[in-house]
Amino acid sequence: MSQLTSYKHFKIDPQQQTINLEIDFSKFLGLQNMTKFILKPRSLVLKRVDKEKYQSLLNHARKKLASEIKPSGREYYKKWEDGWGENLSEFCSTGKIESLYPYYINNNKYFRFSNSYFTSENIFFEVDFAKTVINYFFDKYLAKSSNILDVGSGSNHYVIDLSLQYQNNNFFALDWSRNSYKIIEEANKRFSINIKPFHFDMFKPFEQNFKIRNSSSVYTIGSLEQLGSSYKNMLSWFLKNNFDWIMNIEPIYEFYDINDPFDSVAAEYIKKRNWLKGYYSSLLNLEKAGDIEILERLRLFGSLYHETYNFIIWRKV
Ligand SMILES: C[S@@+](CC[C@H](N)C(=O)[O-])C[C@H]1O[C@@H](n2cnc3c(N)ncnc32)[C@H](O)[C@@H]1O
Repeated sequence: MSQLTSYKHFKIDPQQQTINLEIDFSKFLGLQNMTKFILKPRSLVLKRVDKEKYQSLLNHARKKLASEIKPSGREYYKKWEDGWGENLSEFCSTGKIESLYPYYINNNKYFRFSNSYFTSENIFFEVDFAKTVINYFFDKYLAKSSNILDVGSGSNHYVIDLSLQYQNNNFFALDWSRNSYKIIEEANKRFSINIKPFHFDMFKPFEQNFKIRNSSSVYTIGSLEQLGSSYKNMLSWFLKNNFDWIMNIEPIYEFYDINDPFDSVAAEYIKKRNWLKGYYSSLLNLEKAGDIEILERLRLFGSLYHETYNFIIWRKV
C-alpha cells in the first residue's frame, strides 16, 4: 500500500551528485535567493553518496531496526532532563548557541534527502538548513502574530535564534523539562532577550495553566513526535485555541511510501520509536471536513534513520 502523497517533495535529478541548497532550494521556493534567511555563512552543499555507500547505509539502517530500540513515552522524561542538563552546563561555560545543539544530532553525518543519502562537509548542516527553512516559513506566516509559542522547545536554540531576529514578537518556550526552563533563564540574561519559559506537559495540555493570548501562533519541532499516537489531546488543544498559524516540523509516517525500501526503513523506525503516527491523516480528515486549511505540506529531509524536517503549516477556518 502506498502512503498518502499529497505533500510537496523537493526532488532532484538522480544523476545530480551535488546540491547547493542555497541555489536549488531558492529556485524550488520561487525566490531569487534565500540568503536573507541563512543565519550563519556556512555551506548548504550536499553531496550524494556513491552506490556502495548507499547500500551500506541502507543495510546499517536495517540492522538498526533489528536492534533494541527504546520507544518514546513518559519514561523518556529523565533522558530529556539529563540531555538538556548537559547542554545547559556547556552553554553556561561557553555562552555559544552551538552549545545548545542537541548532542543526538551532533554526530549526524548522513542525511536522507530526495530519496537518497547525502553527506555534507558542514558539521552544522542539519541545524543550518533547518533554520533557513524555518526562517523562510516563519517570515511568511507566523511572524504576523504578536505571540509565538515553541512547544517542546528542548534546548531552545530555535526559539532563541528566532527571538534574536524578531524583537517585536513575544516568545514563549514550553517544555516539561526543568533544565529547558533554566536554559531560557540563562539565555535571556546572556542575549538580553525576554523569552518566557513555561512548564508544560503535552500529554495533558488542557490541565496546564498556560493562558493563550489573542494573536498567537505555535510551532513544534520534533516534539509532537514524542507523543506517538497519543497526539489527539494536543490536536484538540491546537483547534480549541484558535491559533493564527500552526507550524509542525515533525516526522510524518504517512509521508513514506512503504513499498519503497528506502522509505520503509524510515517508516519502520518511526514505528519502533513510537513516534508520531496518524497526525497527518487526522489533519487531512479535518481539511476534508472543511474545519482547517493546510497552507504548506513539504517533505524535506532527515538524518540517517528517518526524516524529521517535514513542514506542515495549517490553521483552523
Ligand atoms: C526531540 S526533542 C525536540 C526539542 C526541540 N524542539 C528541538 O527541535 O531541538 C523533544 C522535546 O519534547 C519534549 N517533550 C517530550 N514529551 C513531552 C511532553 N509530554 N510535554 C512537554 N514536553 C515534552 C522533550 O523534553 C524535548 O525537549
